[in-house]
Amino acid sequence: MERYVIKGGKPLVGEVVIGGAKNAALGILAAAVMTDGQCHIDNMPDVRDINVLLQAMKEIGAIVDRKGPNEVVISGKDMNPDNLVVDNEFIRKIRAGYYLIGALLGKYKKAKVVLPGGCDIGARPIDQHIKGFRALGAKVVIEQGMIYVEAEELRGTHMYLDVVSVGATINIMMAASMAVGNTTIENAAKEPHVVDVANFLNSMGANIKGAGTDVIRIKGVERFHDTEYSIIPDQIEAGTFMMAAAATRGDIIVKNIIPKHMEAISAKLIEIGAEVTESDDAIRVRVDHRLKHTQIKTLPYPGFPTDMQPQMAITLGLSTGTSMIVESIFENRFRYVDELRLMGANFRVMEGDTAIITGVEKYTGARIEAPDLRAGAALVIAGLAADGWTTITEIGYIHRGYEHFEEKLRGLGGVIKMVHSDEEENLFKFNNN
Ligand code: EPZ
Repeated sequence: MERYVIKGGKPLVGEVVIGGAKNAALGILAAAVMTDGQCHIDNMPDVRDINVLLQAMKEIGAIVDRKGPNEVVISGKDMNPDNLVVDNEFIRKIRAGYYLIGALLGKYKKAKVVLPGGCDIGARPIDQHIKGFRALGAKVVIEQGMIYVEAEELRGTHMYLDVVSVGATINIMMAASMAVGNTTIENAAKEPHVVDVANFLNSMGANIKGAGTDVIRIKGVERFHDTEYSIIPDQIEAGTFMMAAAATRGDIIVKNIIPKHMEAISAKLIEIGAEVTESDDAIRVRVDHRLKHTQIKTLPYPGFPTDMQPQMAITLGLSTGTSMIVESIFENRFRYVDELRLMGANFRVMEGDTAIITGVEKYTGARIEAPDLRAGAALVIAGLAADGWTTITEIGYIHRGYEHFEEKLRGLGGVIKMVHSDEEENLFKFNNN
């Protein structure tokens, strides 16, 4: 069984280059089937969720020509409109298969897609996606774990989302960009990846304005054309390495990023006493003392991202005083707390959505399990900050969203290895003692 073995206690120091944004890439790749022309996409992260989506796209007839790990050319020209059924055992486990609903509904006016899986971080309904498709004139039926959408014609409309949803905003934006007439989405999500998907669609010929604000206006067009597009850097991967510097009291330059996307994270790090320096496309985080406590509430962008909550919590668990984190986006995102307690952390979770954290001087190594993607990455950081050896199982979650995670951490001086057996684990420990 694959696992990470980590020897902690050493500050992480050096430079790390951030890859393309997973959550932008998932929307962009799905949207690429909407053209019969060619989409040349680079800065694509080579992570499991992306590879699962590309495989599902091939299965419905999309041409997916992988030019390299981070570069792909996609065309929807040979797809068969009578066979648009997206289902396999892998796509069931990821969330973003649902972007094919919006993409196929926009282009072919129909699709049948397995209901989304993804990390177990809450109920994760898709009622807002459905509300949007119906408002555009589609018939939506859910049966036997599949969602069927179909429309004679999609008609532009005015809609208000009841909750701010990244997925619903992107999905509706895709379908509406090929509807007849104008659509307005109010209370839209403003995340950088929403803007990136809109920019990508526009580069293919869509007419979308206002992405990045809470009102998005879309003028439907009949068809899309060729494009070349480079995906934005991953805000959450960058934030994870910023927290790795903070938690291990290290000094990391996080490169190839858009510092503006990192503002909520940088501001909190500065508030708790880290030295954060920005340049055009990099941020340096330096810490040489114990950080302070603070209070955080996760919110839609530009608020503090829920995808950074566990990494921030791990840092606060080592800070002075008592911190509080309120998780307001997903109801099940503190599953890492039981694992972290095994490492000596002092966390109390109240009413499911609030963690009270009393900082400890040090974590100690333990055998723990990754409960989901971001919490898994956060526990790796905890292991790197801890005294002694940590073993983390279920690391498949981490590979869903972080490319070359252990290599990048090793490049910063982290002692970490992925092993597949007890023998390999013992050998690594023996060689590093
Ligand atoms: C996206 O999930 C990301 N996933 C998540 O990243 C991220 O945590 C989340 O946005 C918030 O930023 C992908 O992009 C593939 P939402 P999504 O719709 O789209 C509620 C990671 O670690 N809601 O913005 O599923 C929902 O329950 C992952 O990379 C409805 O009520 O999130 C939640 O409380 C984990 N009805 C809130 O809205 C709906 O129809 C925000 O969810 C849709 C959502």
